[in-house]
Parts: sequence; C-alpha cells; structure tokens
Amino acid sequence: MGRVALVTGGSRGIGAAISEALKAAGYSVAANYAGNDEAAQKFTAETGIKTYKWSVADYDACKAGIAAVEADLGPVDVLVNNAGITRDAPFHKMTPQQWREVIDTNLTGVFNMTHNVWGGMRDRKFGRIVTISSVNGQKGQFAQANYSASKAGDIGFSRALAQEGARNNVTVNVVAPGYIATDMVMAVPEKVREAIIAQIPVGRLGEATEIARAVVFLASDEAGFITGSTISANGGQFFS
Ligand code: CAA
Repeated sequence: MGRVALVTGGSRGIGAAISEALKAAGYSVAANYAGNDEAAQKFTAETGIKTYKWSVADYDACKAGIAAVEADLGPVDVLVNNAGITRDAPFHKMTPQQWREVIDTNLTGVFNMTHNVWGGMRDRKFGRIVTISSVNGQKGQFAQANYSASKAGDIGFSRALAQEGARNNVTVNVVAPGYIATDMVMAVPEKVREAIIAQIPVGRLGEATEIARAVVFLASDEAGFITGSTISANGGQFFS
C-alpha cells in the first residue's frame, strides 16, 4: 500500500484539489471537513475519497479523528493543513469572536493536527507536513488582521518545527497561495475582487490545481532536502 495522506478541509476548494492530486499520485487519501455534509458526500461519490468530519479547532476531536483515519488507512505519512476560514472586517469593526474563530481554525488548528501526528512521524522517521498559508499572511490585507495574523503564524510555526523534524526526516513546509478561484475568494464583493485581480501580474485568479501541484511536490519522498520553506504561488502579486 502507498503512503497515507490526510488533508484538512479536503472536500472543497483548494483542499479538494489537493486530495484528488494526492490520490492521483498514488496516496491513500483521507479528507477531513468540518461542516458541509452535502459537499463531502458529493466529493466522496465523485472521487472515491473517504471524508471524516471534525473541527480542527478542537484538539480532542483532532486526536479522535486522526485515530479513526489511521484505523482505516494506516499511519498518516503526509498531513496537509489546508482548513481555513475568513471573518473579514476592518479592524475597528472586528469583534473578539471574529478574531478568535479565525485564529482557532487557521493557526491553533494547525497545532492541533500537527501535534497529533508528530510523535508517530518521528518514531517512523518519515513525515511530511505541508501547511497552506496565504499571500495575505505574507503581505497583510486590509480587513484581515485576524486572517493575516493566522497565516503569518503558520509560516513561523513551520519554520520552527522544520528544525525539530529534520533529524527524523520529517519535513515541514508551507505553500502560500494568492487569490484562487474558490468559494472563499468568490465571496469577496465583485468590485473588490476585480480590483485585486488588476494587481495580479498574470491577470487572472489561480486554479486550485495549481496549488495542489506544489503540495504533491513537497509531500514526495524526493523533496526530503526541502524543509522550512514557503512556496509562493500567487501569479506574481507579491514576492517575499
Ligand atoms: N485598501 C484601502 N481601503 C480599502 C480597501 C483596501 N484594500 N478595501 C476597502 N477599503 C475601504 C473602502 O474603500 C471603504 O472606504 P470608504 O468608506 O471611504 O468608501 C472602506 O474601506 C470600507 O469600509 P466599510 O466600513 O464599508 O467596510 P465593511 O465593513 O463593509 O467591510 C470589507 C467591507 C470586508 C472590507 C470588504 O470590502 C471585503 O471583503 N474586502 C476584501 C478583503 C479581502 O481581500 N479578503 C480576502 C478574502 S480571500 C482570502 O482570504 C483568500 C486568500 O488567502 C487570498
């Protein structure tokens, strides 16, 4: 049996493309999701990839969910921390709840998931952690103090952990997408979205498959010398 990959938020948007690309590359894939049962059922019916429901913001749920995945497929070799949410608001209007929800999912969720696969990866002397950050974690974005903080935090988290995992062949990397044609970006008001696209040198939104390709590369056995790095895939919008 091939390696086992677990993708959070793996039944929709960028996560769905990552799940499918890993499956096509020969992995046994589990896709976690938090809320949208209908989308998850449709995804499983179309792809044959089993979905598992829990919130990455809940540490105990992550532990139990990962145990369920491992009972079905075997130990997780590749964890893709993709689950993420937005609660955009200019800071003077941002509520403590909007701050907490985004940090709990996008940053603490990455801790919750990674912490529960880390020991096994160290013991087996192989692991790949790939976390999906964002161009807005690199450059900051108006109305996203919460989201930008969480996504910048994901990069710092990964750089620290890369140093801890290296000796045991556990790599920790980041992919930082720009604006990709997903529900999240399509929810941005049309006028604002058009203004954003005008700032992207390639002149279009990215495709989820263009992010998935980078993840498959970082997950591969051949990428073992790459750790602590961030691959930006943003159409030239920002260089870091
Ligand atoms: N820079 C400077 N000013 C901006 C701005 C920007 N980027 N965007 C909006 N503004 C200004 C507006 O011009 C407006 O100013 P005026 O009042 O003078 O006209 C003001 O901010 C808007 O203030 P409002 O009180 O009306 O704002 P609101 O409470 O209605 O919130 C918003 C609107 C949430 C900011 C909305 O414009 C929005 O959603 N913007 C997009 C934010 C964004 O890019 N989010 C990314 C989502 S996709 C994603 O996150 C995926 C990824 O990783 C890339």
